Amino acid sequence: MPLKARVSIRADQKLGTISPHLYGHFAEHLGRCIYDGIWVGEDSAIPNDGGIRLDTVEALRGIKAPNVRWPGGCFADDYHWEDGIGPREERPRRMNLWWGKEEPNHFGTDEFIRFCRLVETEPYICMNVGSGTPFEQKSWVEYCNYVGETHYAQLREAFGNPGPHNVTWWSVGNENWGCGGRFQPEEYAKEYRRFACYLRRTSPIPLQLVGCGHTTPDWNRRFLTALNCWDLMDHLSIHRYYSRGHQTDFTDDDYYGLYAEASFVDDDIRRTAGALDDIVRDKPLGIILDEWGVWHPQAQEGLEQINTHRDALVAAGVLDTLNRWCARVTMANLAQTINVLQCLIHTDGERFWKTPTYHVFDLYQAHMGHHAVETLIDAPAVTSTRSDGRDIDLPLLSASASISPDGQSAALTLTNRSLAEPMIVKVDWVGMEPPKTIAARLLTADSPSAHNAAEEPEKVTAREWEVGEAGVVEVPAMGVVVLEPSAK
Ligand code: AHR
Repeated sequence: MPLKARVSIRADQKLGTISPHLYGHFAEHLGRCIYDGIWVGEDSAIPNDGGIRLDTVEALRGIKAPNVRWPGGCFADDYHWEDGIGPREERPRRMNLWWGKEEPNHFGTDEFIRFCRLVETEPYICMNVGSGTPFEQKSWVEYCNYVGETHYAQLREAFGNPGPHNVTWWSVGNENWGCGGRFQPEEYAKEYRRFACYLRRTSPIPLQLVGCGHTTPDWNRRFLTALNCWDLMDHLSIHRYYSRGHQTDFTDDDYYGLYAEASFVDDDIRRTAGALDDIVRDKPLGIILDEWGVWHPQAQEGLEQINTHRDALVAAGVLDTLNRWCARVTMANLAQTINVLQCLIHTDGERFWKTPTYHVFDLYQAHMGHHAVETLIDAPAVTSTRSDGRDIDLPLLSASASISPDGQSAALTLTNRSLAEPMIVKVDWVGMEPPKTIAARLLTADSPSAHNAAEEPEKVTAREWEVGEAGVVEVPAMGVVVLEPSAK
């Protein structure tokens, strides 16, 4: 028996603009994310542009990846950027504490910027507070952005980059409560002030400066209270990883439980927004979720894991959550782009395949730059107990809707979370002309543990989909659909 649900799209109730940056990514020097996943070197038989593999570039362009955060993660607070510039054969090989590997420094700032230009994505650089100095970070900004006769501007030119890299997004450390220096919030506030004080003035273009927050109840409040210096910060970042059961061999309870774990994202954003509202005066600070995704306990060395259709369905729900919070969340970055954790892409030498999660990001492009609108959902639910002991009433339908700025087109994403039943969704378009045409795409699989692999790269993939009428949609079990209705 199909399940029944109703979705009411309130085109007259705008929630904010869905910045493309909500669909961002994260690439750390960890395992095979950078080396293999992005950088293969100029001499590689794998098609590349000056060492950067072209299949990765093309795939990221395909989903209009809006930004990539780099070089970490924990790696960032033990990274010294000057090791990664200049002639590659002269760059020092270093020990980076965090991921147990020697760092050859073949992929540094200029390679990262070149990669971003090829993908047409914005660079987001994470600085080193834990083991770095304000001078070192200020010099990094100068190297990237300043045009003039200074040492670092000239160095950039000498290394083949006459124009500035113009990097806008910079975070002042990563997880500074942990791998980024094990600071207390008050100590980090002091460091933040000391570092940030030297950054803005170095850059001829305005910077977006990001402070490191946390999801524990009191870190953000203690940090913000101690900082009390709003001209130095534009966004506060938080991270959320989740897991439930085995990566592929999970029970039905675990299947639903993973959605419940991912609902922490909504709690984290709400709590962070509350702290900002209570403490920050005179300036709206954005929230950045600059690491998120599923981290399976089976993740192996290099944090490689199998990424299934279940993971992709859960990611769709997180993107719906981000759409709803678009007035407060300014950026989000899935961890991590290639070969690591909930990646979009796997590589194995010249072999290359996309994960089901890639296809979710492909479908959700339709929302980029639109106005999010209130979307009311009336759907059957299941109860799942989250790892904090809370019972979560989990609607079997996740949805979000948006309208283009000119009001001529819309996007509606629907996920039927049921493992077994299709769902007939009645869609009410309130406050807009009923659509004349509707284009649709669907991602589904016959099992929640279905995943792609080198031998079967397209086992789970999105396809065009016929929708009978705009008002009633039958979504298959475990299906994610995007509808793009248009008034034309
Ligand atoms: O993404 C893997 C690691 O998770 C990052 O390096 C760190 O920031 C987080 O703890």
